[in-house]
Amino acid sequence: MTNSLLCGPRRPFLGILVALLATLAPAVAGPDTTTNAPAATNDATAGGPAPFSSDTVTKSYFGRFARTPVTLYTLTNQNGMSVSIMDYGATITSIRVPDRNGKFDDVVLGFDKFAPYLKMKDYFGATVGRYGNRIAAGKFTLDKATYQLAINNGPNALHGGLRGFDKRMWNAESFASDVPAIRFTYLSKDGEEGYPGNLFVSVTFSLDEQNELRISYHATTDKPTVLNLVNHSYFNLGGAGSGTILDDLVTLHANQFTPVDDTLIPTGEIKDVAGTPYDFRQPTAVGAHIKELKDKPQGYDFNYVLNKGFFSNWSLAAVVEDPATGRRMEVSTDQPGIQFYSGNFLTGSYVGRERKRYPQYGALCLETQHFPDSPNHDNFPTTILRPGDDFQSSTVYAFSVEK
Ligand code: BGC
Repeated sequence: MTNSLLCGPRRPFLGILVALLATLAPAVAGPDTTTNAPAATNDATAGGPAPFSSDTVTKSYFGRFARTPVTLYTLTNQNGMSVSIMDYGATITSIRVPDRNGKFDDVVLGFDKFAPYLKMKDYFGATVGRYGNRIAAGKFTLDKATYQLAINNGPNALHGGLRGFDKRMWNAESFASDVPAIRFTYLSKDGEEGYPGNLFVSVTFSLDEQNELRISYHATTDKPTVLNLVNHSYFNLGGAGSGTILDDLVTLHANQFTPVDDTLIPTGEIKDVAGTPYDFRQPTAVGAHIKELKDKPQGYDFNYVLNKGFFSNWSLAAVVEDPATGRRMEVSTDQPGIQFYSGNFLTGSYVGRERKRYPQYGALCLETQHFPDSPNHDNFPTTILRPGDDFQSSTVYAFSVEK
């Protein structure tokens, strides 16, 4: 089973019909429908593409996790855009892109040394799992067995538990690719943080000449389990540490969102954004309605239900535009949801690159994902992965400038 079924609503016959129609009607579905699977050009098994050259993926020593050396891999394209990822947490530490004057800046929060990552509690750039976002009381029932996960966020489980995927060493693998790319793999053991099943997971990062960063996930299990893999980059298109993102214009292609209780667990409702301060269907400054929000700390921290077409799960999910620098980012994904988080819990306590502080609202996250607490809501798309299933999912972050 591929994730097109895993992602879809619980209507198997409709799902099969849709999948069939999608394969029969590629012209109608458009070229992006192929992107539910990892890009063929980045897949070693696809054959053909030349191996990347050493000057497009560089390796450097980043620090030490206990006795293990942590390595930083930097992908660079011919436009000079670069993305650095370390093997600890398969974490993006840096994304450098030009502004409208050709000036390069780092547009994600991060540190230039490894040590601060060990103290940082906000998942900067990390690959989050086994279950990104929250599970109520860290509890769920699957095939009549009840599982208790590690609790690490008030009464709930957040982002995979006390030591989720973000705090693990991943194995890095290079492979034949016609664009700079690197793959990380991790075996999450049966019972780790309370989750059932040995889960083998890989995440591949690739950077093309259109300044598109693609993140592709793949996972298999030997027992039924739940899965929600998320990248937790904090973006500030003005440059990390340049101030807040309150003036950035955000568009979310979502007519609905999933309201939460005061511990940030979905109530189960799926509500229209129309007429609420949560409406980002048109480009809207993050700060435009933020003062109307009752949440504490004030700000956006919601899962939006992405609008999807009939033929494909692939969709443009979000756009961010930074009027000051002209930088623009488009986020496309096959996932059903996106967590729009406006950095409400940041306090200015982190001193990042170039000794710049990261204040509240100093960045925003657009975490493509399944809905929080799905294992406890039958009306949400399923997150169950079973032996024999082949979970595949991709998200693309595309960078450009507006003159
Ligand atoms: C969550 C926030 C949380 C942040 C950092 C986001 O994905 O939605 O509630 O504070 O991650 O942990």
